[in-house]
Amino acid sequence: MEPQGFTLWFTGLSGSGKTTCSRIVEKELRARGHKVEMLDGDVVRENLSKGLTFSKEDRDINIRRIGFVCEILTRNEVIAITAAISPYRAVRDENRARIGRFIEVYAKCPISVLAERDVKGLYKKALAGEIKNFTGIDDPYEEPLNPEIVIESDKETPEQSAQRIIARLEEMGYLRRSNGASKNA
Ligand code: ADX
Repeated sequence: MEPQGFTLWFTGLSGSGKTTCSRIVEKELRARGHKVEMLDGDVVRENLSKGLTFSKEDRDINIRRIGFVCEILTRNEVIAITAAISPYRAVRDENRARIGRFIEVYAKCPISVLAERDVKGLYKKALAGEIKNFTGIDDPYEEPLNPEIVIESDKETPEQSAQRIIARLEEMGYLRRSNGASKNA
């Protein structure tokens, strides 16, 4: 199998496990010898998208920028992984169409669980009205209609999710089946 790039696109609410799971997948892919680049939503917003707000317009700009970088990486035989909320279906699908080799991972988790978990303390603030336009509270999140993979952090560990993603990538022919050399994911 020739090395070929693809984009692994995580989408889901804040705190749904996108970053945690994607980091495990990243590690496993590197261990298998692939070139991998990770574009995490929070990191992108500190760099490439610094200054953008959380309005629909700015989120769309953010997601198009990430999509553009993923497109470049993908056509250069790199595996691009991104973990941003990416709440709007139309822009995700636009990226899918541009990139082609695009696998959407939906990190699905009930809002009640996320608000309870509240790792960054943002749900509390959003529910108290201290943060406006917070995704899932007073701003939309459009679920993917046909994601290649759904992971559920309230039902499985991040390692289990990552293993299922790797297995699905093998099944779809994006990855060669492992000889079992790396069992860490
Ligand atoms: S996206 O909508 O443009 O894809 P992105 O993934 O970059 O969002 O950033 C989401 C992160 O920004 C959240 O995990 C959270 O830490 C922080 N954040 C701050 N304000 C908001 C908000 N209004 N809605 C969602 N996330 C917010």
